[in-house]
Amino acid sequence: MERLDKVLANLGYGSRKEIRKIAKNGEIEVDGKIIKDFSMKVDPYNSEIKVAGEKIFYREYVYILMNKPDGVVSATVDNYDETVIDLLSPELQVFNPAPVGRLDKDTVGLLFLTNDGDLNHRLTSPKHHVDKVYYAEIDKSVDEEDIEVFKNGVTLEDGYECLPAKLEIINANEHGSEILLTISEGKFHQVKRMFKAREKEVVFLKRVKMGPLELDDSLDEGTFRELTEEEVKVLKAI
Ligand code: URA
Repeated sequence: MERLDKVLANLGYGSRKEIRKIAKNGEIEVDGKIIKDFSMKVDPYNSEIKVAGEKIFYREYVYILMNKPDGVVSATVDNYDETVIDLLSPELQVFNPAPVGRLDKDTVGLLFLTNDGDLNHRLTSPKHHVDKVYYAEIDKSVDEEDIEVFKNGVTLEDGYECLPAKLEIINANEHGSEILLTISEGKFHQVKRMFKAREKEVVFLKRVKMGPLELDDSLDEGTFRELTEEEVKVLKAI
């Protein structure tokens, strides 16, 4: 049970002071009754709470799937660039979600955000090896040798030996290639550095999958949606 004013403040309905005013105006209903006592304890999950006639949807955590656009940084704050948090609606920003792992400023595609710190940690911890699938366009012809080297763990220019990765060629010729790459770790600039180790350059990079989450065709770049309960369940089970 939580105080009514705290429940509504958590959801971004205003400061406690503003909520008290809304309550005094008779605009808050709990289970069909107008409640002016903002300190009343309510069960936010099971009571029907309405503000100005609109039913609230109470939750502690939010789970958001975004199709990250080019030119936006995967951080919560930045002095120069627009962040993925700036793209969210104010209703979601009040939950203080953070990106789970990072995509480079010029990488697009699937980015998962949440304020569930445990889940964030589990999905990004090097112990857990969550598969991430990237679609990439490469400046040169990708070949069988690249597949073999990535399968055995390519060594980056700083000597780091990557875990085995699965490289699939969609098409390749002397003008460039399109590929899918599955990796289970998330080092800084990892995909770009893996190709650099093969003297090839990533010219376009898009994440299409992370664990059980797939990029939604319905999500345009720069848009987002909350995960369904079923998707959250599957994600937490990994
Ligand atoms: N690998 C990269 O090089 N960049 C990303 O944004 C993600 C993976």
